[in-house]
Amino acid sequence: MNDALVPPYIAAMEPYVTGLSIEEVRRRFGLERVIKLASNENPLGPSPRAIAAVKAAVSGANRYPDGGRGLREKLAERFDVRLENVIAGSGSEGIMANIVRTFLADNDEVLASEGTFPSMRALAQSRGVAYKAVPMRGWNFDLAAIADAITPRTKLIYLPNPNNPTGSIFTTREFEEFHKRVPERVLIIQDEAYFEYARNPVYPDSLRYRYDNVITLRTFSKVYGLAGFRVGYGFAHQDLIGMLLKVKLPFEPSSVASAAAIAALDDVEFLKLSLETNAKGMQQLTSEVKQLGLEPAPSEANFVMLPLSSPERAEELFSTLLQEGVIVRPLKSFGLPSCVRITIGTPEENDLCVAMLQRILKTELALA
Ligand SMILES: Cc1ncc(COP(=O)(O)O)c(C=O)c1O
Repeated sequence: MNDALVPPYIAAMEPYVTGLSIEEVRRRFGLERVIKLASNENPLGPSPRAIAAVKAAVSGANRYPDGGRGLREKLAERFDVRLENVIAGSGSEGIMANIVRTFLADNDEVLASEGTFPSMRALAQSRGVAYKAVPMRGWNFDLAAIADAITPRTKLIYLPNPNNPTGSIFTTREFEEFHKRVPERVLIIQDEAYFEYARNPVYPDSLRYRYDNVITLRTFSKVYGLAGFRVGYGFAHQDLIGMLLKVKLPFEPSSVASAAAIAALDDVEFLKLSLETNAKGMQQLTSEVKQLGLEPAPSEANFVMLPLSSPERAEELFSTLLQEGVIVRPLKSFGLPSCVRITIGTPEENDLCVAMLQRILKTELALA
């Protein structure tokens, strides 16, 4: 390939490494049973109502989708906002990509925290736009330091809340203080992929603010169990949504994905069961790993981060668990090489994960 074909900022990018699939691990290690606790998916499967809706929608898949209109109407009704304030897309990452395409120009800069979901960094790089990450305070975002880091070039601030992979949140009060310091010409994305899991009363529901420069993003990939369908949504001022609608691909999300999402919104029992399973699993997993001498970061989401003493220890734990058929997420690509992240699974999956951790740590103690 001729080097001149690709802009230097694209050539400099690293490809995204997805979590390993169950099938891949089964094949690689010749294992019968493999569990995946690596991608913050719902361990109970998709919402049953969504599955039924997908079956019904498939026979209409010869027709082009409605561009997300039906799903937007449903979301507007559910969240008591106007249609003009809602967007739907191919996952919340799909909407993030559209935000980057719509609002960022060459000299702009994206601001975020260290130790966060790396997708925005990659999207900024793919647009040739600078991305600046501010150090965390413990496992939390340092919102004051992020506000201090705003420059005339800053166009977008990316804030997942709860954060992936730490599971930490910033509070209503912290956000309100922060927002006062952000000029109106700067957009703030509140990425609430794990919104439904966060039950802490100090957790801010960004929809309540209705600030003109805040875009709220949410997804059907987590608690609704629809990650494979790629459908997410967002809320913002109608002018911002209007711009995004001009740029988004006209037929995203797919008709089948929209049908799944619309049905999942009505699956109240599944949502309840998923949240209960997660809350119990979080309690079970965190208390048991604490008994093993580990210190999980406090989490408001459906995963927990385990800090280890060094990058080597984290890598070792990840690969030993993998060989035993438990896939967790090493966090080097999140800039946290000494940590691994474990998604809360079913009670059986959590038990198995803890049993494996126990075995690995005991063997190591015996060898030490
Ligand atoms: C913070 C955060 N945002 C967005 C996503 C991606 O969501 P989606 O599947 O809707 O693109 C994830 C998935 O892990 C995430 O952790």
